[in-house]
Amino acid sequence: MEISNGVNLYICEICGDAYIGTEKPTDCPFCGAKNNFIKLADEARPITNIKVELSELSKKNLMETLDLETKASAIYTCMAGKAKEYKIQKMYKRLAKIELEHAIIVTKLLSIALTEINPEACSDEDAENFKKTVELEDHATQLYKKFVGESSEEHLRKFFGALMQVEQGHIDLIKKHS
Ligand SMILES: [Fe+2]
Ligand SMILES: [Fe+2]
Repeated sequence: MEISNGVNLYICEICGDAYIGTEKPTDCPFCGAKNNFIKLADEARPITNIKVELSELSKKNLMETLDLETKASAIYTCMAGKAKEYKIQKMYKRLAKIELEHAIIVTKLLSIALTEINPEACSDEDAENFKKTVELEDHATQLYKKFVGESSEEHLRKFFGALMQVEQGHIDLIKKHS
């Protein structure tokens, strides 16, 4: 769908958010999904629009994902507050928003409301926070890999597969800055 002068409307099939631009971004600016999940608006089939009965195991795995993502978001908000460097503050603010977006996707998949996000603690030291971030993201990556295997629903395999890549990307980002 062309809006004007080569400007297009794109939709991310993972988070369902729209992006306006002349070209697809390399990753979704909202949820971080790789751009193979970003399609022209007319062609996009967002997973958040797929309403099918989920298996009990998938519901349980999504609840665990929701818990993990909301906690990660709160932890990164804490880390953003502690960071001395502007660049590191900004990086953690972005990570907090991406993890919150992941939590919101889960609430859409489960058709539930987002619960209140409680504040989480973190270290005063960047080095400690970087270490903790890698641990968190590594845990998430492993867990989502397991959830891909356990999902009988195709759209959930797509979701967990996309998230796995996003969290792995966060590890690479931190390693670049630490
Ligand atoms: Fe997205
Ligand atoms: Fe996440």
